[in-house]
Parts: sequence; structure tokens; C-alpha cells
Amino acid sequence: MTPNPQSPYIVLTGTHACAILELDGGRAPLWRHWGGRLPDAALAPTRLREGRPRPSFSLDEDIPLSIFPTFGVGWFGAPALLSHRDGKDFAQDFTQCDVTWIKPDTHVHIALRDDVASIRIDITLDLQPETDVLTIQTKLTNLGEAALSVAHLSAACLPLPASSRAVRSYTGRHNHEFVLVEDKLGPSTWLRENRRGLSSHDCVPAAIVTTHQTTQNHGPTYGAQVAWSGNHSQRIEAVGDSRFAWHLGEWLAPGEVILAPGDCLEAPDVLATYCENGLDGIGHNFHGAIRARMAWPSGTMAPRPVHFNTWEGVYFDLDETALMDMATKAAALGVERFVLDDGWFHGRRSDNAGLGDWWVDSHVFPNGLAPLATHVTGLGMGFGLWVEPEMINPDSNLFRAHPDWALQLDARPLLTARNQLVLDLTRPDVFDYLLNHLGNLLDTLPISYLKWDHNRDLTTSGSGGRAAYRRQTLGAYKLFDAIRARWPNVEIEACAGGGGRSDAGILTRTHRIWTSDCIDAVSRLSIQRGFLQFFPPEIMGSHIGTSPAHSTGRSQNMAFRGAVALGGHLGIELDPRHLNQADQREVRDWITRYKAHRDVLHGGYVWQGDAGDGVTWVAQGQPDDFVLSVFRNEPTGLRWPPSAVLPFIDQTRAYQSTLVYAPMAFGAHDGAKLEDIYTGKVPVHGAWLAQVGLPLLALKGESALIVRLKAV
Ligand code: DGJ
Repeated sequence: MTPNPQSPYIVLTGTHACAILELDGGRAPLWRHWGGRLPDAALAPTRLREGRPRPSFSLDEDIPLSIFPTFGVGWFGAPALLSHRDGKDFAQDFTQCDVTWIKPDTHVHIALRDDVASIRIDITLDLQPETDVLTIQTKLTNLGEAALSVAHLSAACLPLPASSRAVRSYTGRHNHEFVLVEDKLGPSTWLRENRRGLSSHDCVPAAIVTTHQTTQNHGPTYGAQVAWSGNHSQRIEAVGDSRFAWHLGEWLAPGEVILAPGDCLEAPDVLATYCENGLDGIGHNFHGAIRARMAWPSGTMAPRPVHFNTWEGVYFDLDETALMDMATKAAALGVERFVLDDGWFHGRRSDNAGLGDWWVDSHVFPNGLAPLATHVTGLGMGFGLWVEPEMINPDSNLFRAHPDWALQLDARPLLTARNQLVLDLTRPDVFDYLLNHLGNLLDTLPISYLKWDHNRDLTTSGSGGRAAYRRQTLGAYKLFDAIRARWPNVEIEACAGGGGRSDAGILTRTHRIWTSDCIDAVSRLSIQRGFLQFFPPEIMGSHIGTSPAHSTGRSQNMAFRGAVALGGHLGIELDPRHLNQADQREVRDWITRYKAHRDVLHGGYVWQGDAGDGVTWVAQGQPDDFVLSVFRNEPTGLRWPPSAVLPFIDQTRAYQSTLVYAPMAFGAHDGAKLEDIYTGKVPVHGAWLAQVGLPLLALKGESALIVRLKAV
């Protein structure tokens, strides 16, 4: 429907969601609704101000929540902008608002001008009906004749309804990512800020707001994420009319943004979504939006190849002959991509030295990397290489030649972390150096994959005496983009000590996230559950590691490690030379299962659930054809196992199962008929599965059951 230019409303229509703003003359449009889709004719019965009484002891003019609330001219809540010109122009209000439709009903541009404070704000809102994700882009332009200092610019300000109950966000640390935190919403402000210079382990730039009705798969629910790999902030506060305002954006360091006349500041994209299907629905919408933003080498995602990563197998103990042997053994297991991790470059015998010297270490590889790389490709595998371009060790040729290339502040000591400093990517000479050295590797070796690491937070992040967090993030993006443009067939994995750079911004430039350095399968279950809330399974690096797990010291059998890794982008991270025959067989079996089912595990829906008694499950695929993985971490407390209730499936059809993996042979014990269910001899009706559930085996602690269910 072509929007009526006379209408006082901006209505963006999705499939199950919509957003409605009320025009307010020259001021910023007012938020009226973001939530469930309303029928076309269902508009507000009155203009906002005319439909609510004037409160006592308040402004004579009602100033409600707008899409861009500003400070100092009647709005008392958190402003979307904090800026000034040498102490002046600190208050803003818009005097002109122009609305242009880019695509009827779904994509609109709002241009706001404040001729007093001399600023312009451009906001585009794009509600994609395929995903119900609203992408918000915000830009500030300095129209004045003097510099504008910007302390804060919200990338989005979203309304949340009175029914909002709690906010689910994720914290964590290295080896312990995606730890769920649930905070009740109320009159006090909810605030998460990250000042570590990258997306970070301890503050994922994303959150979910639940309502009283939200469950895993039901109920109105809201989600948003900032597509940005640097500092960020999220704030939710009550606005006095029972709604809440949700501000998301970048966290700016003091003095970081000073806009010269005519300059602009582009905020990172925000992806926001509403759905009626609870946490799973939000995940599904986000997965769709992120998939649509990703840039695959050939335009579409190829089946995710089985990885082999050298890190936990040999760490820095690299040797050409041994690596070739590992590659041969990995290929025999069914591996499709061999990634040479840290330790291959000049002077890198431990994590004390070498970062910055991006040429092959001639002591370890006297003939360069070509023999290993050609051996790998000759075995039919892709060759991947680990790099950490943004870093420099003080003990490196690069630092000795250019100590000024590290981010630093005058008269402040350089603070190392993992013995390393951060290169100043705002400098053109640093950028050129990295592009040349990485380019030399990419031009001379058959590299089809880079694992791009970033193993520390930013401190003394200064360049030219000014804060360089935002500029550093943009510099890193520029390097990613330059490499993608010149070597478009090279896929990139984002890593930052595991999952410290997990965000929708990096995912427009990369193709995989190394979810966590913790490969302990018990820990991984909750890490992966959190990750899948925002990001799709095909980009979730999940490896079968050694036992005991290096990160936790806990031991799990190969079957449980394989089952937990199966649903993501599968990899093997151990020394295949040390696998006994039985382990080799098991790893090969897991790789075979992955190859047989990756087409359904990836690219579709993800549903997650709890069967009770500590049993969790994740289903991946389509409602009529999916893989169901059921996990038990702790031993049971019940006499009989629970059933897995699968509310998402088609209740009008029967389902037939194929057994992917069961931890025990089915014998003539009680419950032996389960085998007939799992192997498809006895189909189960969808309504039974959705309301009563799939009967489960008596799983022991740290074991799994995996079936593929198809509607017949
Ligand atoms: C941290 C990563 O998460 C690991 O997988 C590994 O690549 C190391 N860095 C190498 O230094």
C-alpha cells in the first residue's frame, strides 16, 4: 500500500510486527507502537497528546517519547544525543521533519533539523517482512560553523510496552561466554556499558526484553542488538507513561567525537525485532536478518566444511613433518579444512613474542608454508591460517622499528595483556603495513580461510593524544573490508580469545565465530544456548576437543563431545596422532553424521527447550524435518525419564524418526519399544509430540540422544 502523504502516521508493516510513529510537526515523530502487527485500518483513536490527560505539576506542553528524544527542551528522560559547541548548543529540539519513503510500508527515511542547535539527524527504519527485523540507522551531521563535541548518540531509541517484565542479557569472561543475566524492569534504569574496545566477553551487545507472557516459544517478546564490534551501551528506563525507552548505541570516550562543521557521525546499525513466539521466535528473526547481511564468497553459503584446528592439539609446538602427518590423519577422518593456528610466524615460539612480524618463521618452516599448504590442499582440504593483525608484541621486529605504532597515551605506561599491545589502526602506515603483509601471504599461499583473532581488551587507546576506540574499530573494519574486497574467496573467522567479538557488525565481514576457547561439552551447552539466541548455528564454531578439556580439566567421553559439537559448524581440535582406533572410529562417525545432516542443521530454524529434570534439547531444521539433540549434563533425579515436548511442530501430521545417535544399544530391557520410535518403525503423531512429548531414553549424566524427525 502506498503511504498516504497526508497521514499523520508513519506505519511500517512486517509480517507479524509493525511500528507506528506519529508525526509531530517539525519535531521528532512520536513513538506510538512497536509490537504485534495491527490491521491496516487500526490506527490510534486520537493523536497522542489529545488522548492523555495532562499531569499535575508538569509542563504545560506534553513532550512524549519520540524516536529521537533530546535534552533540555522538555524531555526529562535519557536523551538520544549529548553534544555541545564549546559549552553552547547543549539543548536540542527539532524544527523540521521530512519523511521520505524508500520502499512503501517498510523502509522510510526521516530527516530532522534543529536550526537552533544547528544539527541534523537522519534516521532510516527498514522493517523486513521476511524476518520482522527492524534495522535502524542513525546519522548526526554538524550544520554549525563551529566544532560539535558529541558525548553520546543513540543508534536507536525504541519503545517498550508496559507489559515489559525483564531483560535478558549476557555476561561472561574468557572460557565462560554467554552467561545469562535476567534483571527485572522497574522504575530504576537498567544499564549495560562496555568500555573494553571490542564487543567483549562480559557484555554482549544485545538483549531480549520479555513480557509477562514470554516463554521459550510463546508470548510477545522484544530483542535488539547493536551491529558494532567496539564499545557499546544499552539503557532501558521507564518514561513515566508505563512504557520504557530502550536506547542502544556506541559508548563514546571523552572527546572521542568532535565533529568539524559539515562532518557527520554514523551510529552503528541496530537490529530490533518483536515476535509472539518467545525466545525462539526472537532467535529465528535475528538468524534471518544476520543471514541476509552476511557476504559469502560465492553469494550463498556453501555447506560448512568440517574444520581441523591445530591449537589445542599442539599449541606452539609446530613442526612441518608433524603437521603434515596431522593433516593426513585429519583428512582420513573426513576433515575438509585444515587451519594452522598461532605459532607459525617469525619469532612466535610462545605468546611472548612475534605479533606484528607476519612472515613465516624460517626456523620452524625452513621451506616456508607452501609445502604444508600444498600437502593440505593435495589432500582435498582447504588451507586456513591464524592471524591476529591488530596486535603487536613489544618483543617483535615491528615494535622495535615502530614503537609509536601501538595505541598509546603520552606519559602513560603501556599496559600489556597476554604480553601484547594493540596496533594503532587509525594510522595509514599501520594499515598499509598490515594489508601488504597479509596480502603477501594471501597472494603466495593457497589460503582460503583466515582465523582472525584479537586477544586483548583496549587500554591507553589513544592516537594523536585523543581517544581512539571508535576509530580503532572503524580501522579494523576497513582492514577486514580491504581484505574481503581483494581476496573475495577467502572466508574469515572472527575470534577474540574465543567469543569476545560476537556481534552483528563483525558478521557482515566474517563467516564464522569461534564461540569459546572452552571446548568442555558440559560448559558448551549453555554457551551455545546463549549464542544461538542471537546468531545462527552455521556460524557457531563448535569443536570436538580432547579429554580432559584444557579449559576446565573435566573429562567427557567422545560421544558427548561429538553430540554437543554436532549442531554448530563442526571442527576437530585435538592431536589426531594420539587418537586410538576406537576414538578415530568415533570421530569419523561424528563427522559422517554431521555431513549427513548439516543441510538440515544449518540455515533453518532453531528451537531450544527443557524437558525437565535437567534434560535440555535443541531442534534445528524445518518444522517438518529437523534434527533433535537431547542432552543431559547431570545424572537424573527421577525414576523415569521425562519426555521432550516439541511445541513447534505440525500438529496435523505424523512424524517418523531416524536415529542419528543413541548412547546405548537397545536391549530387551523395559522401554525397548523406544528403539521402534527412534528408528521410525512406530511413527508418532505431531500433536502427541507437541503436547505430550517424545519419550526419552534413561540418559546418564553427560550423554545425548539425537534423532531426525520428518513429517510423513
Ligand atoms: C585465542 C583463540 O581463541 C584460540 O583458539 C587460539 O587461536 C589462540 N588465541 C591462539 O593464540
